[in-house]
Amino acid sequence: MTSVGLSIGHSLCTLRQWREGDEQSLAANANNKKIWMNLRDVFPFPYTLKNAVLWIELSKESKTNFAIDVDGQAVGDIALTMQGDLMRRSAELGYWLGEAYWGRGIMTEAVRAMTDYAFQSFDINRVFAGILEYNAASARVLEKNGYVCEGRLRQACSKEGKLYDQLIFATVR
Ligand SMILES: CC(C)(COP(=O)(O)OP(=O)(O)OC[C@H]1O[C@@H](n2cnc3c(N)ncnc32)[C@H](O)[C@@H]1OP(=O)(O)O)[C@@H](O)C(=O)NCCC(=O)NCCS
Repeated sequence: MTSVGLSIGHSLCTLRQWREGDEQSLAANANNKKIWMNLRDVFPFPYTLKNAVLWIELSKESKTNFAIDVDGQAVGDIALTMQGDLMRRSAELGYWLGEAYWGRGIMTEAVRAMTDYAFQSFDINRVFAGILEYNAASARVLEKNGYVCEGRLRQACSKEGKLYDQLIFATVR
């Protein structure tokens, strides 16, 4: 379906702005070490209600960061981070989904919608994502959306005291 920028409707989920009232569902779905293990350390673990309140306050007007809504509940997040300087026509894609919703094709659909939205709404030419080497599910989500693995940054990431390679996936307009 068409993107109006602030709410993108699809069959499995809707991407929409974060809003007051999402706090409980956000904290309940985000508070999961299996999610944290695949994200930057800036993503909190444990993820408290206070973290959720702050996130919604910061994000609710955003046009690049959306809640993933399934049956009226905000159960994940998907965001574009616009790059600067020489990379000004690139955006980084990041996302997570509550574990109870994994394996239903939801993120495949969300990434498709967000990638279309990115190219339709912003003067960018490239969307990329950096994933930890062990994140096979995320690699598959990206591949299913036409993202190509462009490279492996050896030992680029440190998580819980261990070094991991980062894989860079990208799609261009
Ligand atoms: C990665 C994540 C977003 C996937 O969301 P999802 O809605 O379950 O993904 P989908 O159901 O759309 O697709 C998952 C695909 O990965 C595959 N997959 C799942 N686990 C896998 C594994 N261990 N090895 C290989 N493939 C795997 C599934 O079979 C499916 O592919 P298919 O349709 O070809 O069968 C979700 O697991 C998550 O939020 N993980 C934690 C946070 C995270 O990793 N964020 C991304 C950081 S880059």
